[in-house]
Amino acid sequence: MPTGFSSTILRFDTIDSTNLEAIRQARVGAPEGLCVIAREQSVGRGRLDRTWHSPKDAGLYFSIVLRPKLPMNLWPLLPLVSALAVSDALMKSCGLRADIKWPNDILANERKLCGILAETLETASGAAAIIGIGINLTKAAVPEALRSNATSLEEMMGHQIDGERILTELLETIAERYQVLQSEGGAEHTIREWCGNSSYAFDRVVRVSSDHDSFEGRTRGLQGDGALRVETGDGKLRVVRAGDVTAVRATTNSASSESNL
Ligand code: BTN
Repeated sequence: MPTGFSSTILRFDTIDSTNLEAIRQARVGAPEGLCVIAREQSVGRGRLDRTWHSPKDAGLYFSIVLRPKLPMNLWPLLPLVSALAVSDALMKSCGLRADIKWPNDILANERKLCGILAETLETASGAAAIIGIGINLTKAAVPEALRSNATSLEEMMGHQIDGERILTELLETIAERYQVLQSEGGAEHTIREWCGNSSYAFDRVVRVSSDHDSFEGRTRGLQGDGALRVETGDGKLRVVRAGDVTAVRATTNSASSESNL
């Protein structure tokens, strides 16, 4: 399958955030597929304005520029596709079967192993999406305070894992999944695949929290645009497009402003 991606990788020892650099590159015309990777980030960014702890060589920190040929209402599927690609790459490179928590956290043994931050912007050459992926490679990637809720590949596999191997697999799996998303029936296929690879898709009791709301319910699959359907105790179906989802009964630390969990 043709990938359609440029193979340009911009490497940095230290950077503020690979997402910020990818945004800067996209603004000056970077083509689809440009990848920005850094050994450490001084201002690693997570979802919901959190920080992403990014010490040197402890994680894989990278971002890809995409210029999707998709209707805007399907762009929320991009982080879901990216989560599937991470899950594929972890299976291929480490034999690790990961879970996906809505929308795009990658979990191993119920603990967070990888986070994805998708951002969009307008550029002179059209709208672009930046997909930023952070994978905890070593134990040092996970701050002490988050260790009960977050993990690393080192901890899961019992030895250190080569980040370059994962990056190579990931660039392939992202390109493949992204190509499928943009083909006929790709959105429906992506939703089916996401549901097949996430224990959170159906019948999971969760708490949904956002700035202005918090409620519990049971998951009932995804809408066509990737939003999560949650049935509350009174039988009403709520459609979640933003916020945090946590499994009820699992130990959580939702008050944290760090996102490696
Ligand atoms: C999350 O909150 O779960 C998303 C975390 C995303 C972290 C990655 S690391 C590479 C890229 N650059 C950033 O500043 N953030 C993303």
